[in-house]
Amino acid sequence: MTLLQNYPLQDITTFHARVFAKYYTVFSSAEFLKKILSSPELKTKPFIILGGGSNVLFTGDFNGVIIRNAMEGIEVLKEDDSDVFIKAYAGEKWHDFVLYCVHRNYGGVENLSLIPGTVGAGPIQNIGAYGVELKDVLVEVEAMDVHTLEVKNFSNVECKFGYRDSVFKNQEKGNYIIMSVTFKLKKNPQVNVSYGTLSKELEQMGITNPTIKDVSNAVIRIRSSKLPDPDKIGNAGSFFKNPVISNEQFETIKSEHPNVVSFPATEGFTKLAAGWLIEQAGWKGKRIGDAGVHEHQALVLVNYGDATGKEILDLSDKIIQSVKEKFHVELEREVNIF
Ligand code: EPU
Repeated sequence: MTLLQNYPLQDITTFHARVFAKYYTVFSSAEFLKKILSSPELKTKPFIILGGGSNVLFTGDFNGVIIRNAMEGIEVLKEDDSDVFIKAYAGEKWHDFVLYCVHRNYGGVENLSLIPGTVGAGPIQNIGAYGVELKDVLVEVEAMDVHTLEVKNFSNVECKFGYRDSVFKNQEKGNYIIMSVTFKLKKNPQVNVSYGTLSKELEQMGITNPTIKDVSNAVIRIRSSKLPDPDKIGNAGSFFKNPVISNEQFETIKSEHPNVVSFPATEGFTKLAAGWLIEQAGWKGKRIGDAGVHEHQALVLVNYGDATGKEILDLSDKIIQSVKEKFHVELEREVNIF
């Protein structure tokens, strides 16, 4: 195994903050991953697995090993008249996988078009957008136990998915490396256009009976207009989760702020649009040095050039504090901070 030293993370993380890892290595097969995990160097050093680097913020240099997952490939495992089971390896770019499915008219992931990152990162936070979550189409996750090097298959239920949440962020945090994900997709797809912004966009495009390709195109149009392109302005998508509060607390907020934007959640609870809360607290489009709040979507923090991870984290602390003062709601970060 070759460990590169003092490796820059600026180009392999979408926040593009200037930080270095003491060591760096990459694997593209299960055999190679086993070799890395059983090497003496790994026994004594902390390590982090990186996919597309699109949901992480490093607040300083990392004094350990960055291991990049580059296992690639997409395979059809089985199919019948209505369904197709597809296995995608963890290092595949998520959006390339979506396009693979859309081009073949395999339905289920089109609403998740243009989400940055890799297939392997998807299950960790149960990626979701425009009315669909990964858990709706995921069959199983194949992962390697970092301690025993055994391979385990997690069924959809065993993944314990929640809103931006899974077993890989909780009980099994740091214990497994995801190698592949298997999906069940529809060969005669029914589109899901229940999300308001999506149905409005299709209407504006003059489409009344959308195909999954139309849905994918509409999602790409919405995301491109609202969310900054990480290749141009550093960011990691939504920096915070939309907070879920009790219906009782929601009624109190609504009585003071009748325009509050909310979504249904599990019984007894309401999900608030964090972007709205942050905008109302006066942060939308604000900038402190090179760290800023995006002008079109307040949920997204951006690096205009030379912001350090620490400056972005400090900005997020200020936002959490002022939303708490104004609404008595505690925002939780969605991005992984190291
Ligand atoms: N809003 C504002 N101001 C803002 C942003 C939003 O008032 O600056 C209000 C608007 O009323 C808007 C509503 O909030 O209609 C919802 O905004 P949007 O449709 O952009 O969705 P979101 O709740 O802000 C979530 C996900 C996004 C996902 C979209 C679409 C989270 C943390 N974020 O954002 O996911 O693309 O829904 O489904 O759940 C990501 O996770 O990185 C991500 C971008």
